[in-house]
Amino acid sequence: MMKLDTKHAFLKEDIASYQDIVTKCHEDLHNKTGKGNDYVGWVEWPNKYDKEEYARLKSVAADIREKCDVLMVCGIGGSYLGARAAVEMINGMYSDKKPEIIFFGNTFSSTYIAQVMEYIKDKEVAVNVISKSGTTTETALAFRLLKQFMEEKYGKEEAAKRIVATTDKARGTLKTIADKEGYETFVIPDDIGGRFSVITPVGLFPIAVAGIDTDAIMTGLKKAYEDLKDPDLNKNAAYAYAVCRRILENQGKDVEMLVSYETQMTMVAEWWKQLFGESEGKECKGNLPTSANFSTDLHSLGQFVQDGKKVLYETLLLIEKPTLDLKFPEDGEDLDGMNYLAGKSVDWVNKMACQGTLEAHEETGGVPNLILTLDDMSAESFGYMCYFFFKACAITCYMLDINPFNQPGVEVYKKNMFRLLGKK
Ligand code: PA5
Repeated sequence: MMKLDTKHAFLKEDIASYQDIVTKCHEDLHNKTGKGNDYVGWVEWPNKYDKEEYARLKSVAADIREKCDVLMVCGIGGSYLGARAAVEMINGMYSDKKPEIIFFGNTFSSTYIAQVMEYIKDKEVAVNVISKSGTTTETALAFRLLKQFMEEKYGKEEAAKRIVATTDKARGTLKTIADKEGYETFVIPDDIGGRFSVITPVGLFPIAVAGIDTDAIMTGLKKAYEDLKDPDLNKNAAYAYAVCRRILENQGKDVEMLVSYETQMTMVAEWWKQLFGESEGKECKGNLPTSANFSTDLHSLGQFVQDGKKVLYETLLLIEKPTLDLKFPEDGEDLDGMNYLAGKSVDWVNKMACQGTLEAHEETGGVPNLILTLDDMSAESFGYMCYFFFKACAITCYMLDINPFNQPGVEVYKKNMFRLLGKK
């Protein structure tokens, strides 16, 4: 479902020459002997997820779909990016599916927060507050506002029926609030970190409320699990991709630009940036993950890619079959001179733009291009893609002797912010 093409990547080393180190990293991951081994619950999750909780999640989601115009998803980082990526990739940007999903609790922007609160005031609202730690300030601040809003709008009892908390099974402030108020709760497993959690209730609950077939996501996940359980680099495209990242870094390419040609993949790129950036960017190591959406960004960043400093490589994340397509119409007068495209599909035009750009960046620009091709933007492909990137990320980090599953650097800003905010 996800293919890797390295023909345009100018690799100066043989991928197969990394087999021994990759096999060792694979064993560390699967046998839980590598760094951060308390957080590798996602590896076996496609087989071991809690089926009872999953059934309850679908039933609560169906109930919320019935009675609400809006689901407020209150979370940040790994507690929001995956769900947003899925909803946009699978449903598209202007889906008429109800309820509308609004992402909240991911910023201190007063303008954003106030505008959203105004927007939802006359709507039927439900809330899913998501936080593993239960103490993340952006989320806690937004949730206090939402909780008060819900209690004023519906009264305490009805508000409690409309608030769902996804958090640790036993600990944390959010768990305490949820238990006291009697909210429906879903568990974030102890052994799965935020940026690997889209495949747990963290992602699956809002995704189900968005009307997406979560069973198909789990099917895609299981397929990827089966396809990617063999460390053989000739068979495992995720591991081969992980190796390519290291080879390109050895060739002086410190920046990886994930490029998509589908507007609705923009948030997938944001999710991917968090996955790789927060996992790999440690101990002064790692590639800087960045992203672009072509052809839109060919009219901005494209200039740098073509002619700028040669620090980057592109990873194209291509979609074989678009969700929708349309034929370009003929025009009798042809004043715009566009009749040469009449009768062609718009997706064909997009694919030709991609081919021409690849040629330009590779041949004239000298920019290495890795190509990942995903079948389509379905729920099943989403599940497959998540697991593919999870495994690639873990292996590429282990190759650098880095713990992929912690984020010590994130604490530094928090410490300063708390001092300035006067938190005890
Ligand atoms: O990947 C991670 O672990 C982080 O990005 C977290 O998801 C993010 O900081 C939010 O944390 P929490 O769910 O504890 O509120």
